[in-house]
Amino acid sequence: MASFLTPPSVERGLGLDKELLERTARELVAPGRGVLAADESNGTMSNRLQAVGVEPSSEARRAYRANLFATEGYESAVSGVILFDETIRQSMDDGTLIPDALSSRGIHPGIKVDTGAKDLAHHADEKVTEGLDGLRERCTEYFALGARFAKWRAVIRIGDGIPSEACVSANAHALARYAAICQEQGLVPIIEPEVLMEGEHDAQRCFEVTSTTLDATFAECAAQGVHIPGSLLKPNMVIAGKGCETQISRERVAQMTVDCLTQHVPHNLPGIVFLSGGQSDEDATAHLNLMNKMDIEHPWQLSYSYGRALQSEALMKWAGSGDDFDAASQRAFSHRAKMNRLARSGDWSEELEV
Ligand code: 13P
Repeated sequence: MASFLTPPSVERGLGLDKELLERTARELVAPGRGVLAADESNGTMSNRLQAVGVEPSSEARRAYRANLFATEGYESAVSGVILFDETIRQSMDDGTLIPDALSSRGIHPGIKVDTGAKDLAHHADEKVTEGLDGLRERCTEYFALGARFAKWRAVIRIGDGIPSEACVSANAHALARYAAICQEQGLVPIIEPEVLMEGEHDAQRCFEVTSTTLDATFAECAAQGVHIPGSLLKPNMVIAGKGCETQISRERVAQMTVDCLTQHVPHNLPGIVFLSGGQSDEDATAHLNLMNKMDIEHPWQLSYSYGRALQSEALMKWAGSGDDFDAASQRAFSHRAKMNRLARSGDWSEELEV
């Protein structure tokens, strides 16, 4: 007998275009390609500009990103770019709207739709990501502006007695509700439950918390009728906390990450696009490379949606004015894009970094 708790079937969703969602998701994780996360909020991007000595402003954020997006040839490695609300409305130097410029190069524009991680009531040091209010209307507008996928980031901190069940379940529930609304509006949701690297925990604890978080997230997705073949997951890798004395090898990170995902991620998900989360550029590439090099068939594409690991060098190089800085920034970005393209097929090696 049906009850109020019966998950709604996706077929009953309003105007759900499964074919469009599945196609977009597959294109985002096409062989050799991954996502550039350039959706830093205005506050975060301003801090990053300031850190390299650039006075932050809307124009500075536009100019840095427009230069990045004008890089020659990066579309062979980048299938999609996640934008912030400000950026999706800005233009390239020649006046073309940024989402149009990306689409014309075969790159899907994406959009960050959460409104940030806020303090979770009654739970010190824990956050819940907000942004569900008005989300349907914002998604409708973003689709009209050219966006074809979206991102929502939940943050889970490991520490003494945390994460709490309240934190994991509140974030999982919000992720699933976000994903369902995006799909209804034709946007592929990137579901990002990030277990932070900050902390002194070891890799085994990261494995356990990541497992619990993934289970909760996909249970909520099932309850909300999220169409898994039209979604992507953006998880952390299984890695020891930055403050942990016992760091594990790159090989061990790759193995534990794949084991965790194999046990906790539905096999009909088309792709996994890792975040870099504060890893060094080379570690992020090396870990992805090792996972793709393993002698096992993964059910999903293993790809990237890196922010810092694709941009940190490019941003540092851009911190000056004039064509030389623009060109140096593009070269740095182009190199990282190429390295990660190789890591998609396990063909990267350390010597190529020189
Ligand atoms: P990082 O790769 O810098 O962790 O950023 C990815 C991202 O988009 C986090 O939401």
